[in-house]
Amino acid sequence: MRPTAELHCHIEGAAPPALVRKLGERHGISLDGLFTPEGGYAWHDFTSFLAAYDRAASVFRTPQDYADLAHTHFATSAREGMIYGEIFISPDHAANAGLSYASYVEGLAAGIERAREETEVEGRMIVVGVRHLGEEAVERAARIMVEEPHPLVTGFGLAGDERQGRAADFARAFTLAGEAGYGLTAHAGEFGGPENVADVLDHLAVSRIGHGVRAIEDPALVARLADEQVVLEICPGSNIALGVCSDLASHPIGLLRRAGVAVTLNSDDPPFFDTTLAREHEEMARTQGWDDSALEALTRTALRAAFCDEETRGRLLARLDGQDVANPPLRLTP
Ligand code: ADE
Ligand code: ZN
Repeated sequence: MRPTAELHCHIEGAAPPALVRKLGERHGISLDGLFTPEGGYAWHDFTSFLAAYDRAASVFRTPQDYADLAHTHFATSAREGMIYGEIFISPDHAANAGLSYASYVEGLAAGIERAREETEVEGRMIVVGVRHLGEEAVERAARIMVEEPHPLVTGFGLAGDERQGRAADFARAFTLAGEAGYGLTAHAGEFGGPENVADVLDHLAVSRIGHGVRAIEDPALVARLADEQVVLEICPGSNIALGVCSDLASHPIGLLRRAGVAVTLNSDDPPFFDTTLAREHEEMARTQGWDDSALEALTRTALRAAFCDEETRGRLLARLDGQDVANPPLRLTP
């Protein structure tokens, strides 16, 4: 089994449809139209995907619901090889379901801890602000994270519809999080063009970009990404499902890697896109012809870019191969 590490997975987007259905029944929430006849999630474009995501999230009402979700995600992924995983968590989704930030994080942490005891998988959480809810909501998410710290919450990010707002609108939230020592990442270059990627790099002091694949449209930006060793959290299966890219064989991850960009492989919202982290690796071998050492390099880059403490990083890298391989520096949060 191949050891893997993941930096980009939205916890509500990792909810298996069967669990969502069960909790919907338990809490008396109507989920009409949420599922396809085959039992997957029903959506047809980015906007309807975000709406389906919000509905699936709405059934998680108690800390125990979130503990079960995190445990399922981490334990299942670990059985398929994952040794480290970060999840995006959203205080706005918790609040919509009537949960306080503290209960949300405590529930998720209990699930992560239980999975770690069973499988040795390490997990961390990255609080995200939802871009289309506006700059005040994003700043509130950063503030509550800083005011109510938890040892497993180690990063701050920006998700949601990147076609809305400018990166600079969110600078206050990112400054707050960055000054408090959190790792920083933001979705860009998925539904927005390369200018969104540059905008985020210029204004939000991130070390990583969620997706970033549309950087491929601007060769100067690709050179900048390689030069500054910005880490891209690439999610090929998601890109195909959402129509950002046409097929895996021509997915820009190959060109970006050859241009010297630091790339990682991620599942984003696995059951929505009929994928898993292990499957993403298998598909890169099949469609891009990557061998074991190329796939291992993705995991090594993910561990080097992970928002975890140095002791944990060292232990995970040692677990990967026990070798002392040169690790040139990645972009430091400026
Ligand atoms: N939230 C969940 N999945 C997302 C994606 N692929 N892009 C932006 N926001 C998201
Ligand atoms: Zn995402």
